[in-house]
Amino acid sequence: MSQPNAAARPAPLSAHRFSVAPMMDWTDRNCRAFHRVLSRRALLYTEMVTANAVIFGDRDRLIGFSEEEHPVAVQLGGSDPAALAKAAHICAERGYDEVNLNIGCPSDRVQGGNFGACLMRDPALVADGVAAMKAEVAIPVTVKCRIGVDEQDPELALDALADAVLAAGADALIVHARKAWLEGLSPKENRDIPPLDYGRVYRLKQRLPDVPISINGGIGTLEEAQAHLAHVDGAMLGRAAYQQPELLMRVDSQFFGEADPHADAFEAVAAFEPYVAAHLSHGGRLHDITRHMLGLFTGRPGARAFRRRLAIDGVKAEAGLDVLRAAVDEVRKAEERRAMVA
Ligand SMILES: Cc1cc2nc3c(=O)[nH]c(=O)nc-3n(C[C@H](O)[C@H](O)[C@H](O)COP(=O)(O)O)c2cc1C
Repeated sequence: MSQPNAAARPAPLSAHRFSVAPMMDWTDRNCRAFHRVLSRRALLYTEMVTANAVIFGDRDRLIGFSEEEHPVAVQLGGSDPAALAKAAHICAERGYDEVNLNIGCPSDRVQGGNFGACLMRDPALVADGVAAMKAEVAIPVTVKCRIGVDEQDPELALDALADAVLAAGADALIVHARKAWLEGLSPKENRDIPPLDYGRVYRLKQRLPDVPISINGGIGTLEEAQAHLAHVDGAMLGRAAYQQPELLMRVDSQFFGEADPHADAFEAVAAFEPYVAAHLSHGGRLHDITRHMLGLFTGRPGARAFRRRLAIDGVKAEAGLDVLRAAVDEVRKAEERRAMVA
């Protein structure tokens, strides 16, 4: 297949150099606000929200975000072009920096609605959705996909999807470098069991050198992410970024050549306090936020006590900033104890 016309495409979306993956139940607005304190530049994604939910649902709850989250992309699920266009329009008006279409989620619920990974089998329909969104919004429209599903040959399936959506105007692709097996695996298993094939994503980039392409799947460290940039334009991290958020603290310097926002995690938590305080003052619970912080300090003395404090005291309805401070103090004290012994 020939390469779609690249001349009409905007300059590579530089924010894509490093992004945090969309993750249902994880990357909600509180999580994103926390991640933003750790990195000014990482591109953040919402959880997937269906086009119909955006159109008919409680928009503040589903797609509300705070200004400090920029750059932030909304991820939509759906296959009806008219609904996708309408939802994209609503999201763009709200101020999102990018609309991303989910062609990777393998859950039964999603297959039942004919969207997510099963759409790898229907590039023409995905392209119609992309074209409809492009006609409606000025912000970039991107696609996150797999390399194929089930018995598909990834060499053909990924090219077919990429060519179709690029011809429809997609501005960038993010490829989770493994198949989704739609029969017999849970969504969780589908993130681990089908083997990773980074080479397939590199070959896509070689064939489409002018198209911004990010790679996703199984990237555990910033060093691994950096190594991928020799082959593709961006690295997207999901579980590693969520479970070890401290790694985000070095993204600005390592990926964007800028100063990191904070010297250490203690300073970052202190900088996050005003956000937490505002959330509490609006009737929110501490746990809404601290559940996304449990991975902070991982591997350090006191990390377990930090998590325990948040898991036991942080879930109480009346829990306030003092609980977060006490949890952080567990780490500080453990580090002091270790320094005295050393
Ligand atoms: C809890 C969880 C929820 C996820 N939800 C979504 C989602 O809403 N949309 C999506 O495209 N991918 C979703 N994913 C997949 C991730 O975006 C990513 O593709 C996958 O985890 C592989 O990247 P990783 O190995 O860096 O985690 C989810 C992953 C996890 C762990």
